Amino acid sequence: MKKLLISLTLLISIAEAYDFNPQMQKYMNDLKTEAKKANPEFKGFDYSRGEKIFTSKHVGKRGKLISCVTCHTSDFSKNGENISTGKVIDPLSPTTNADRFVKVKDVKKWLRRNFKDVYVREGSAQEKGDVVIYIVNKK
Ligand code: HEC
Repeated sequence: MKKLLISLTLLISIAEAYDFNPQMQKYMNDLKTEAKKANPEFKGFDYSRGEKIFTSKHVGKRGKLISCVTCHTSDFSKNGENISTGKVIDPLSPTTNADRFVKVKDVKKWLRRNFKDVYVREGSAQEKGDVVIYIVNKK
């Protein structure tokens, strides 16, 4: 049991192991604090919850069924397309695109807008953290 717990803890820390720059790390820590305040059971951000947030479809802001995949695709090393404007979106993966998850201001702005596009509401701190952990760690 103890071994299992240790490997689980290891798995969780690996899932969150992406090396953010200091301002992004602070943002992620702030989200964590907020998530814990909202839910005392909160243990840490989770890749699979993030995957579900990113890939599940909802009736979005424009009354059509969409997901985050609709604009960003599910291959973050490739370009996406903004279905509202037809403009190309650069890859979301920080491995392919060095501009990703660098500026907190951009990440905040787009998470706010994009959650509204898909979920017609803002994401909670936990949802934002989960989805970021999914995007930066997705292979
Ligand atoms: C209607 C199209 C659209 C949808 C749907 C969409 N996005 Fe975006 N997203 C964009 C655009 C446009 C940008 C900004 C352009 C850019 O950064 O290349 C962006 C940027 C981002 C960024 C900024 C990353 C950075 O560091 O620059 C993140 C994170 C992001 N989106 C996550 C999401 C998530 C999570 C969802 C689902 C809740 C989602 N997006 C759904 C169009 C979309």
